[in-house]
Amino acid sequence: MHINLKNKNVIVTGASRGIGKAIATLIVKCGGNVALQYNRNKNRAETVKKALGPKAKLYQCDFSNGLEVGSFFNKVVKDFGRVDVLINNAGIAIKSDPEKNDTDWIDDWLLTLDVNLNAAGLLCKKAIEHFRKDGGGVIINIASRAAFRGDTKDYMAYAASKGGMVALTRSIARAYGKEGIKAFVVAPGFVRTEMAKDFIDAYGEDYAISDIALNRMTEPEDVARIVAFLASGLADHATGGTFDVNAGSYVH
Ligand SMILES: NC(=O)c1ccc[n+]([C@@H]2O[C@H](COP(=O)([O-])OP(=O)(O)OC[C@H]3O[C@@H](n4cnc5c(N)ncnc54)[C@H](O)[C@@H]3O)[C@@H](O)[C@H]2O)c1
Repeated sequence: MHINLKNKNVIVTGASRGIGKAIATLIVKCGGNVALQYNRNKNRAETVKKALGPKAKLYQCDFSNGLEVGSFFNKVVKDFGRVDVLINNAGIAIKSDPEKNDTDWIDDWLLTLDVNLNAAGLLCKKAIEHFRKDGGGVIINIASRAAFRGDTKDYMAYAASKGGMVALTRSIARAYGKEGIKAFVVAPGFVRTEMAKDFIDAYGEDYAISDIALNRMTEPEDVARIVAFLASGLADHATGGTFDVNAGSYVH
């Protein structure tokens, strides 16, 4: 079976590296066009865009600034004419010790929620408005195993933000299915990206592998394949579903 995304216009947030880069690369390989969002590293984002060629367009947007998020979506619609798929992948994992003073802890909490959940929520709202006018579309929200298993005390905000992504996605699937809008959660476990680098550096890859059922670490491309499949429309009747990509480390 071939995943066909020909002529589909797809927004991929956080596409300058890691999982987002792998998703954008596969989408273009499957025939789609991509709007690549990144935040800080222009050089890297430009390298990704260059590798993907004319089917990719680059957008800078800082998701900690709510007002920028809406204009980003409007700009993509203006440039591409229509959007078929929204993939909310951008995210941060800030280590935040609960022993910190309240002010610093709440700063970490709010930034995490702004980038990981609030921006995705607004993009979903914008996508729903857009899809309702034009025969539907697909939303794929990248959550995390942490939404279900929980995380360590230093990553409570991260886990909470990802739990929010799950509830958001399920609500969209239930509310808008009749209007052709499908929504899915993809929940990775531990994936070899820069977000996971600190952990690997501290504990080593063997330790990371001992926590999973398979014998190699999950790569960004392992996540990208599921995302491309969901984006293609081949799994529409699984709308509202969560797809775990955690190498059997948390089966629920
Ligand atoms: N790597 C893992 O082990 C893992 C596990 C579970 C879930 N995830 C989730 O997968 C997604 C991608 O993770 P990754 O490992 O590829 O991360 P990464 O750190 O490699 O990339 C994150 C992306 O998010 C973007 N981003 C960061 N801050 C931003 C901001 N303020 N505004 C806009 N964009 C911003 C960056 O530009 C980058 O493109 C995230 O949502 C993450 O929570 C990752």
